[in-house]
Amino acid sequence: MMTDSQTHFARAKQVLPGGVNSSTRLSKALQMPFYAARGRGSRVWDIEGREFIDMSCAHGAGLLGNAHPAIDRALQLAAELGYVNAFETPYHEELARLVCGHIPCADRVRFCSAGSEATLHLIRACRGFTGRDKIIRVEGHFHGYHELIYIGGHPPRDAFDGNRQTPYVESPGIPKAFAEFIIPIPFNDRDALQRAVEKHGRQSAIMILEPVNYNCAGIKPEPGYLEFCREITRDAGIVLFFDEIQSVFKKSLGGAQQDFGVVPDVCTIGKSLGGGLPLSAFCGKAEIMDVFQPIGSVQHSGTFNAHLVPVLAGLAFLREAMKPEFYPTLRQREQQLHDGMQRIIEQHTLNMVVTHHGARFNMVIGTRTPPVRYEQTFCHRTDVFLKIIRTCWERGVYFHDYGGGPLHHGYSIQHSAEDIAQVLDVLESVLIEFKDEI
Ligand SMILES: Cc1ncc(COP(=O)(O)O)c(C=O)c1O
Repeated sequence: MMTDSQTHFARAKQVLPGGVNSSTRLSKALQMPFYAARGRGSRVWDIEGREFIDMSCAHGAGLLGNAHPAIDRALQLAAELGYVNAFETPYHEELARLVCGHIPCADRVRFCSAGSEATLHLIRACRGFTGRDKIIRVEGHFHGYHELIYIGGHPPRDAFDGNRQTPYVESPGIPKAFAEFIIPIPFNDRDALQRAVEKHGRQSAIMILEPVNYNCAGIKPEPGYLEFCREITRDAGIVLFFDEIQSVFKKSLGGAQQDFGVVPDVCTIGKSLGGGLPLSAFCGKAEIMDVFQPIGSVQHSGTFNAHLVPVLAGLAFLREAMKPEFYPTLRQREQQLHDGMQRIIEQHTLNMVVTHHGARFNMVIGTRTPPVRYEQTFCHRTDVFLKIIRTCWERGVYFHDYGGGPLHHGYSIQHSAEDIAQVLDVLESVLIEFKDEI
């Protein structure tokens, strides 16, 4: 007897490639997509009517949780305004002012929908600004699925080349020629960065990185590393580009550049920014951002750029995040989750580590030492992690599986201390069950 989800999945496969609209929505842990019926606060219900604590929060876009009243009001306002599109409005200017007021590197900002769009347009601007083509990028970091940068980020273990001679092209369909522009380096390795700058500095437009590597084990920059990046890129005339699509607003209003006190030349922001609606942005110093038409000659245009509905949602998000209790509340949840996980790991002597920065955390199975670069995460036990995620799902806690990789999970401002306690209880019972395999 098939469940409703299995029936829908079987039918969806006839009309959607693989039955999904985003390749990673087919959960390896569940062997089908999670079919959501609705969400509210910290909870999401599937079409079978089962209730889950949502620990995906839309891959980090749901920092306000599901159906936040402020976003509901923004959607009502959008309906009253007739959700006019492809116009500038006073709301656009207000949102831009708030972003420029909070993000340290932002003199100017432009809004778009997906994070991948933001990195694409900003890379073009930086190439236009410098007149250079190469990109120094860091292994394990993710900057979107497009041709310019989906190269050299996550080479699989059997294709990993410690000499980094040929950057790994991460999807068929991306011409190998694009790899010529990519210089991959290991995270937290100053010598490697220095060598890359010595060899390719004069041809390099940007050095791009996630200031916190949520897309691989939540690896943080070692003390002094970001400062070193700042200094060496400045000296070499390379634009320092922080991809803060994920890190922005997770710990503070100013993003990781504020958390670590290192200001890049430009950055991308997204996910949480739209309060659950599709909104990303790219921002930076005026001299770089003003390369865009109609001031400069770099093109950036689009029918749905800065659509009014997500712009209003973005304003609503920022007004919530600016409330004095917002970050102290998130910090309490972070502390509770981290302390709880540490206790579980120590009490049951589990061979795993939990990293965290703001309202997002990563679990790495198979080591008790936090990794500092990509290849150190090859020990992660994908097979066991998939079983852990499936068993949590059976017990009412939803983690997105990311193919079993050591990627990020998180909570929202609507997750209560009781929710986090319940998640810890479920995780403890599941981890004990798989203790011998961890
Ligand atoms: C750091 C980073 N950059 C870019 C992206 C791409 O964003 P989107 O999925 O909105 O295209 C992501 C998405 O996970 C991300 O984490």
